[in-house]
Formats: sequence, structure tokens, C-alpha cells
Amino acid sequence: MEIFDSIAELRHYLDSKRHKGLTIGLVPTMGALHNGHAELIKRSVEACDITLCSIFVNPTQFNNPEDLLKYPKQVERDQELLLSIGCNAVFTPSVREMYPDEEKTLDMNFGALESVLEGAFRPGHFSGVSVVVSKLLNIAQPDMAFFGQKDLQQLAVIRKLVNDLNIRTRVISVPTVRENSGLAMSSRNQRLANEEVLLASSFYRVLKSSKERALKGESIESVLNSARLELERKGGIELEYVEVVNSNTMARIKSLEDANNISICIAAYIGGVRLIDNLYIKQEH
Ligand code: PAJ
Repeated sequence: MEIFDSIAELRHYLDSKRHKGLTIGLVPTMGALHNGHAELIKRSVEACDITLCSIFVNPTQFNNPEDLLKYPKQVERDQELLLSIGCNAVFTPSVREMYPDEEKTLDMNFGALESVLEGAFRPGHFSGVSVVVSKLLNIAQPDMAFFGQKDLQQLAVIRKLVNDLNIRTRVISVPTVRENSGLAMSSRNQRLANEEVLLASSFYRVLKSSKERALKGESIESVLNSARLELERKGGIELEYVEVVNSNTMARIKSLEDANNISICIAAYIGGVRLIDNLYIKQEH
């Protein structure tokens, strides 16, 4: 497995692969890799000749400085995992390599997507994500790039970015990988104490029961009220939002008739750690 921290050297390597007619898959990550990330890598290894994983804790997408400081870093373990699942190359640039200009970087605005869910609770987050993803797509010029449904709104933002800027890369979405308990895998789970992990596992149960109730015909308003009550009753969960939305536009919906793709999304703090999860209620094939 090749390891690069220089953009120029990575480009040189990828150009030589492209000249041989090989296809390239990119999996952008912030490291502290788990089986969710591994699934993205495996999908890329299956679909593309060369798989590149980037590991970069992107400072511009953190609106909470403490979250950035506490973000877990374990590059050697990450590299072992990547090697074991057939990843061909890793890109681990420094902040200076990605942002040599000390001036604030570009701002990107995604209109309505900014005013709901993550957009509303983490101002500037999607600008940071989309600038760094644009940079990675321009640096690697991959045939495909793989993103998890775990970050559903991020996926919507990236699809818009790629469509609006006519970027050639195909965006592939990968279903959320969960622990046996149902807890969605996340690098942030490492920061939870055992009893907090149990509490966090209740998100999936609440998402699933909300989905069942909605599909049985209960109104969205009533489903959401029950979900909020159930989560708040537990104690230790500081709920930011639980919403039922159009999975493509993230706009809130009132009835299951309102869209073909519908998801229920949740964000909450447990023990100071911010966690998100979501579940499709209805999905067009
Ligand atoms: P990170 O949180 O490291 O996630 C990297 C990719 O892994 C994202 O596409 C995310 O959706 C996916 N992922 C995380 N947990 C997952 C799970 N349990 N199942 C399936 N996929 C999962 O998301 C980011 O990094 C950053 O915002 C990034 C896109 C790298 C830009 O900095």
C-alpha cells in the first residue's frame, strides 16, 4: 500500500495508474477507521482497479473547537486496517498541504439544505465539508467516490456539489453499518462510556419503531412526538432534533405522500458527544 502526504506525489501516482487505463475509487475519511469505513473501502475495491483512502481531519468543517481537538487519531491502526482490506493507497496530508493559504477558505452555500438538520445546528459545517471534498475530488479525479448513508445530509450536499459543478466522479452511497446493538458505527463512539453506548443504542430502536408506526398510518407529527418523549424520558440524552424529511432535499415532510424517498433523522448529545443517525422510511428503487 502506498502512502502519500504530498498532493504532487499522489497526483503523479494516480496519473500513472490512469495512463494504464485503470479506474480509481476514492473514499474520503477523517480516520479512526471502523467497519463502516471498511465497508466503503470494500465497495471501492470491488468496483475500481485502484482504491485511494484519504485520512484528513478537516478543521474547516468543525464548528466546535473542542470536537476538533478531541477527534480520535490512530493513523497506524488505520493503515493496518486499510492494508488488510485491499486498499491500494492512502493520502494523509497535513493541514498546511491542504490549506497553504492562511486566509479563510472559500465559502459554499447549499441554500435550503443549510437551514435544516445538520445545516441548522452546525453553521458552516457543510461549507467546510464541500470545500474539502471538492479539493479531494480535484486532486484525485476519481471515477467513483464512496460516501455513507450514515451522513445522509452530507450525501445530499455532495450530490448537489458534484451535479452543480459538473464533476465527472460518480457518487456511490453505502448503507449504514451498525453494531449488533443497532448503534451506527462512528469514530465518535470511542468517546462514550459503556452506559452511554447502551443509551446511544436506543436511537436505532426509536428510529425503527417510528418507521413502523409511520408505515402503519400514524401521522408524522404523532410519530415524532412519541419519539421525542421516548428519548427525553431516558435521561442522559440531549436531543437536538428528530425529523422526518425528504431524503433527497432534506425538507421536512408532513405526510408519507409528500415524497418518494423519506427518512427519519436524529441528532443528540450523550455525555458531551454529538451523535447522528437516520433510517429510510420509504425508498424508491
Ligand atoms: P468520516 O466521519 O470519517 O466518514 C467518512 C465516510 O464514512 C463518510 O462518507 C461517512 O458517511 C462514512 N461512514 C461513517 N460511519 C459509517 C457507518 N457506520 N456506516 C457506513 N458509512 C459510514 O464524513 C466525513 O468523515 C467527512 O465529513 C469527510 C466526507 C471525510 C470530509 O471531511
